[in-house]
Amino acid sequence: MSMFTRENGALLAEAVPVAEIAQHYGTPTFVYSRAALEQALDEYHSALEGCAHLVCYAVKANSNLAVLDVLARRGAGFDIVSGGELERVLAAGGDPAKIVFSGVGKTPDEMRRALDLGIRCFNVESAAELEVLNTVAGECGKTAPVSIRVNPDVDAKTHPYISTGLKENKFGVDMGQAVDVYRQAKALAHIDIVGVDCHIGSQLTEISPFIDALHRLLSLIDSLANEGIVIRHLDLGGGLGVTYRDEQPPSVAEYLSAIRAEVGDRNLELMFEPGRSIAANAGILVCKVQYLKQTPGNDFALVDAAMNDFIRPALYQAWVDIQPVHQRNDGIDATWDVVGPVCETADFLGKDRGMNLAEGDLLAVAGAGAYGFVMSSNYNTRTRAAEVMVDGDRHFAVRERETLADLLRGEHRLPD
Ligand code: LLP
Repeated sequence: MSMFTRENGALLAEAVPVAEIAQHYGTPTFVYSRAALEQALDEYHSALEGCAHLVCYAVKANSNLAVLDVLARRGAGFDIVSGGELERVLAAGGDPAKIVFSGVGKTPDEMRRALDLGIRCFNVESAAELEVLNTVAGECGKTAPVSIRVNPDVDAKTHPYISTGLKENKFGVDMGQAVDVYRQAKALAHIDIVGVDCHIGSQLTEISPFIDALHRLLSLIDSLANEGIVIRHLDLGGGLGVTYRDEQPPSVAEYLSAIRAEVGDRNLELMFEPGRSIAANAGILVCKVQYLKQTPGNDFALVDAAMNDFIRPALYQAWVDIQPVHQRNDGIDATWDVVGPVCETADFLGKDRGMNLAEGDLLAVAGAGAYGFVMSSNYNTRTRAAEVMVDGDRHFAVRERETLADLLRGEHRLPD
């Protein structure tokens, strides 16, 4: 159930009118629903009931402290890809023992910090990384819990920029080399093999690529067992798609029950790293129409949010729904390109959107809870948006709008 609904034509975030949030915090502003986040995580937990599992929310999707806090309180673990994300999880009250550390380029410093905190697992992506981790763990007097991220070479059938499980991608260890890397791991004094993992891509709308990957992982687990290498957990990564327009991804329940059926009664803890399916539809981006500009070539609604705030349309040609916060019928009815003030033709949030608009209207960009604020930049010296979380009839600033002083901090002119 969406937590963004309409009452008398006005958009609400849970019980709070979105217009009230815009009035209070200004625009552009990301608005998140606590209930939507909790509901999405709960779907994972209930579909995994009765089997040993850990759901590690992929922090990269939305790393706001309040988002992490809400999910941590609800029992989530976390999938991180940097020392920065590690510190965020800690600051939000997350439990280090529920953290998995993914990423192809972990530095020795990041490894050291994660070892000191006692994270659950390092998802190691290469033989070279394994050697460095072993050395660092030895220096710290620790043993590093390790899963090898394998690249199962399956086609996730998603946008090429967010497909990660093909042979030619930089991620994971080639399936053909995986057994060798596990043998290497077994021989290292400061490495403890605990699992196997993969992540094949994002915004998947079919179950079959997940099942293909799972089969490959299960047969790897069998080969390892023959060598006396026992795998205790299987982490299938994230990637489940959401509906932005008319996509029909499987539900969390369908996806997980298909996986559970394949795993059967094997003695494996199941782990997942969902990002988008937890956060995407828990957030909107609210912006304001500054100018309506009708030209012989196009009708433009110029809004105060831009590609620096929400880059998915520009970067992946992603389609996201855009709706007026208040519907009217006395404005200009046209088919608008919704564009921002940034000096790039790619600076659009949506194209060819039929809406009745007047200058000053508020628009809500849907599906902005994942890969929204986290991918924003200061391009064109634009301050980044505010973030607000709604909880029932209350709203909280969970990130203040950046100021120009924030932007200039740390920059210096040359001495005279
Ligand atoms: N685990 C790993 C190792 C990942 O690399 C990712 C996402 C996830 C989990 C979470 O995947 P999700 O459940 O969110 O699909 N910026 C792009 C998406 C990039 C995803 C990168 N990896 C976008 O806006 O579509």
